[in-house]
Amino acid sequence: MQAKRLNRIEESATIKMSHIAQQLQDEGKDVLNFSLGEPDFKTPEHICEAARQALDLEYTHYTSSAGIVELREEIAKKIREENQVDASMENVIVTPGAKQAIYELMMAVLDEGDEVIMLDPAWVTFEAAVKLAGGTIKWVKRVEEDVKYESLESVLSANTKMIIINSPNNPGGYVLSEKEQREIAEFAIEHDLIVLSDEIYEKILYGRKHVSIASFDGMHERTVIINGFSKTYAMTGWRIGYAVAPLEIMKGMLKIQQHSVTCAPSISQFAALTALKSSQDCVREMVCEFQKRRDVIVRRLNEMGLRCVDPEGAFYAFINTSGHGDDVEFTERLLKEAYIVVTPGSAFGLAGKDYVRLSFAASMEHILDGMDRIERLL
Ligand SMILES: Cc1ncc(COP(=O)(O)O)c(C=O)c1O
Repeated sequence: MQAKRLNRIEESATIKMSHIAQQLQDEGKDVLNFSLGEPDFKTPEHICEAARQALDLEYTHYTSSAGIVELREEIAKKIREENQVDASMENVIVTPGAKQAIYELMMAVLDEGDEVIMLDPAWVTFEAAVKLAGGTIKWVKRVEEDVKYESLESVLSANTKMIIINSPNNPGGYVLSEKEQREIAEFAIEHDLIVLSDEIYEKILYGRKHVSIASFDGMHERTVIINGFSKTYAMTGWRIGYAVAPLEIMKGMLKIQQHSVTCAPSISQFAALTALKSSQDCVREMVCEFQKRRDVIVRRLNEMGLRCVDPEGAFYAFINTSGHGDDVEFTERLLKEAYIVVTPGSAFGLAGKDYVRLSFAASMEHILDGMDRIERLL
């Protein structure tokens, strides 16, 4: 009954782990779920208030497919001023979540047999989106060591069309250095590749600075920035993401959007506009809280002798399981013996088999309890 293309992809590993957690919780078990990348904070009140006003003003219908003009203009302004990338409203498409923007991009630019270079490990959706569109992945390892021009070159072929980067990174927690990004840019220009730069965690940084690869000379013409409101403003359920793309690519994505979802939710677009135009104190407060949790996790894991790549951004600890079995064995042990849910690293690519990902988008209380349980287990 199912289409053959479905054989190319697996069920989302992070969502699968969360279902297991829910199942155990329903059975009355005291489960701590560290598998989902969803901020546990409330959406800030002034953003909710903007949605209420939009509702009162009956902004409850389809919007223009690419998004309301005010929001597209505000996004373009943000991209120019904060990211130093040359963009206008015409380059912006507002989508129901960043995920949808990624699907639209793959469907718009990939043909059967096209190859996509991806840094390993990588967030699960990139691989699925590439494969559904008929592309194949070429992995380049990026765990605890920088990416080099030569490693990118070693997987290059006549079919290479795109390179995907995601900094700050899910699941690795790293931030690409400017030097690495410059090598990637040089490589993309030299071989005429499209760059997908997922910058959704750009504000969630611990002492690092975000630089968009699209700001380098010759790059905005070939880079598609993916970003959204889910992480920065704790707005996962509002479903608002966006892409900033060269005009031709944006128009291709728009065609797909017109014939699939039509537009992003109208009320959410007005809420997102307020999020961008208002004070960013709410973001700073959330990041400050993430930093506290990160510091506790890193300290406690190190004290237990578990090595974790020091997260520089996003909200994931990528923990090395050496000495405790591979990723799947360690995940099962945590689940069965401590009722702790994490995601096995191999869900994110080839390099993850000695790692598990622990999301610290969970309360400090849960984190402290979780660290105690892991310590007892070990
Ligand atoms: C790297 C990355 N990009 C995009 C998304 C999805 O964002 P959205 O909720 O806007 O679809 C996630 C969510 O986990 C993510 O980790």
